[in-house]
Amino acid sequence: MSSDALTSHLTESRRFEPSAEFRERARVSSREQYEALYRESLDDPSAFWARETRDLVWRTEATAVMTGKPPRADWFHGASLNVSESCVDRHLTSGARHRAAIIWEGEPEAGGRPVETRTLTYGELHREVVALAGALRALGVEKGDRVILYMGMVPEAAIAMLACARVGAVHGVVFGGFAVEALRDRINDCGAKVVITQDGAFRRGNVVPMKATVDRALEEAKSVEKVIVFPRLGPAHAPISLHPGRDLLWSDALALDPKAGAAPEIVDASHPLFILYTSGSTGKPKGVLHTAAGFLAGAHVSTRYVFDLRDGDLFWCTADVGWVTGHSYVVYGPLSNGATVMMYEGAPNAPDPGRFWRIIERHGVSVLYTAPTAIRAFMRWGEQHPRACDLSSLRLLGSVGEPINPEAWVWYHTVIGGGRCPIVDTWWQTETGSIMMVTLPGATFAKPGSTGLPFFGVVPEVWRADGTPAAPNEGGKLVLTRPYPSMLRTIWGDDARYQQAYFSEFSDTYFTGDGARRDEDGYFWVLGRIDDVLNIAGHRVGTAEIESAVVGHPAVAECAAVGRPDELKGQALVVFVTLKLGQEAGPAMREAILEQVSRDIGKFARPDEVRFADALPKTRSGKIMRRFLKDIAAGRAATGDASTLEDLSVLAKLQAAEE
Ligand code: PRX
Repeated sequence: MSSDALTSHLTESRRFEPSAEFRERARVSSREQYEALYRESLDDPSAFWARETRDLVWRTEATAVMTGKPPRADWFHGASLNVSESCVDRHLTSGARHRAAIIWEGEPEAGGRPVETRTLTYGELHREVVALAGALRALGVEKGDRVILYMGMVPEAAIAMLACARVGAVHGVVFGGFAVEALRDRINDCGAKVVITQDGAFRRGNVVPMKATVDRALEEAKSVEKVIVFPRLGPAHAPISLHPGRDLLWSDALALDPKAGAAPEIVDASHPLFILYTSGSTGKPKGVLHTAAGFLAGAHVSTRYVFDLRDGDLFWCTADVGWVTGHSYVVYGPLSNGATVMMYEGAPNAPDPGRFWRIIERHGVSVLYTAPTAIRAFMRWGEQHPRACDLSSLRLLGSVGEPINPEAWVWYHTVIGGGRCPIVDTWWQTETGSIMMVTLPGATFAKPGSTGLPFFGVVPEVWRADGTPAAPNEGGKLVLTRPYPSMLRTIWGDDARYQQAYFSEFSDTYFTGDGARRDEDGYFWVLGRIDDVLNIAGHRVGTAEIESAVVGHPAVAECAAVGRPDELKGQALVVFVTLKLGQEAGPAMREAILEQVSRDIGKFARPDEVRFADALPKTRSGKIMRRFLKDIAAGRAATGDASTLEDLSVLAKLQAAEE
């Protein structure tokens, strides 16, 4: 083992087989069938991708499916298409015109019922997309122009994305919770010509003012010529102030030239589809660039296999459209498959922690795809909430965004899935565009905490620092050795950073930034970001394992493990812990947590310090921001870009506790 190898200490040996009933109807129903398709995807990628994407709308066929090598790999060379045709137009003639594309619920509820719900059929979605595309054209948006979308979870967000795609414009969705500076920087980085927004959104019982934020951002963003405003809040709220000559209401925009959007702009396969900003662990956000055909192919094929879609499904990916998960699995993947998507505007605990379960019961959601941070919150709020609803429509569950600790996995399986729904733990990144690792639900058993096996066409490997492959169960750096259709093509405006960030650790091979191990069955276990790796008494341990052990204690809701410089040991281990409601922090709890880690991982990993906190600093997509905790643990003021932090007061409280 090389000196900087990551060691893995957590063992989880439970296996969960899909039920015979699930397996029987599944698209891939055995390990052998998975292996055969996987083999084909590597041995003959052209045949595989041509067949699996045949149902998409291609205006001209590719002359070569895969060309070049990373970092310059190219896909579907010679093909031309318009992504919106695959997501919308093609369903008009396939018998799905009157099928619901999007079922939406607004956040406000009265008497346990939503105040507003809407259903958009594929036919209606088409009309709206065409009309907005016409508006964009009438406003002078041309192929390749950038359009920033600053919106909440309303169907118009999906319509806006598809309308941009229809005219060949490049959309950049900025999460609606970002503040003025973050929005301004992103607009300036891509030089957007148009911004599409809404007056405000309902979130956790409050109104988030969005148009006002856009107005302030535009004071220092001069590329923007027009702003289209969707009126979400309704007449009971403040009238929308419009800048003359710059701003238009949604309805006025749509009336500009309703037919002008009918003919889609046909683009080359590698024409940019969108930019999505993602925070690196430090420094300014990276504008990850995805391209039309490659991204669509990845989202399309993965949605079909991973979620095992079938007629009659109601698919609910709870991610916001501001994140990549919202791009791939709220909009492009499900719609290109003609699925019906559930979309919900608000927070999971608005007005109370039963909201998600009422939505599932009310609409009959069959596939639920959410994040471990949400699952741990549900555990913390108590199982009486899901137990009060009929969740029998669910048949498949998914998880994404961070390692799911086995404790949460089993809770999700038992309490939400009633023991009958397989769980797909999907590993991927903003950069990969679509799911890279997963245990396909009907194919074989899942192991709680493992992201399972590679998806078709993906070759993940665990490498030592010198680029040699790690042995089974030896931790190392997770790389993807093959090009993949939905991989990012560059960082917008900064190609050098693209090469540096992903292809400099190992030349010509994509480095994910994650640590991982592969077990004796070929299953992958993600150990956390390499930047966050802990070095405890000479053992390099991933944060995920320590955190999983701590969260295994029944009183613990969440945990973040970080290192603090220590003269004696090099690094001391500090764990920040939030407890479940009604649990008491104190010496006995501290001791119990230390014991838990010693038992699950080993005495060497016994934390040096346990700090109890009401909340942990998280990004708006729910990821714990460990760099701030590292500063706090080391007794330093937390520094660095805090613009992606969900709740600044959490940081202030942690710092105050320190002083
Ligand atoms: O560290 C991995 C973690 O999230 C990172 C990607 O984050 P982002 O670009 O925001 O995309 C999130 C949605 C795809 C990865 O490098 N991650 C994501 N999914 C998992 C995960 N870690 C463990 N298990 C997962 N299922």
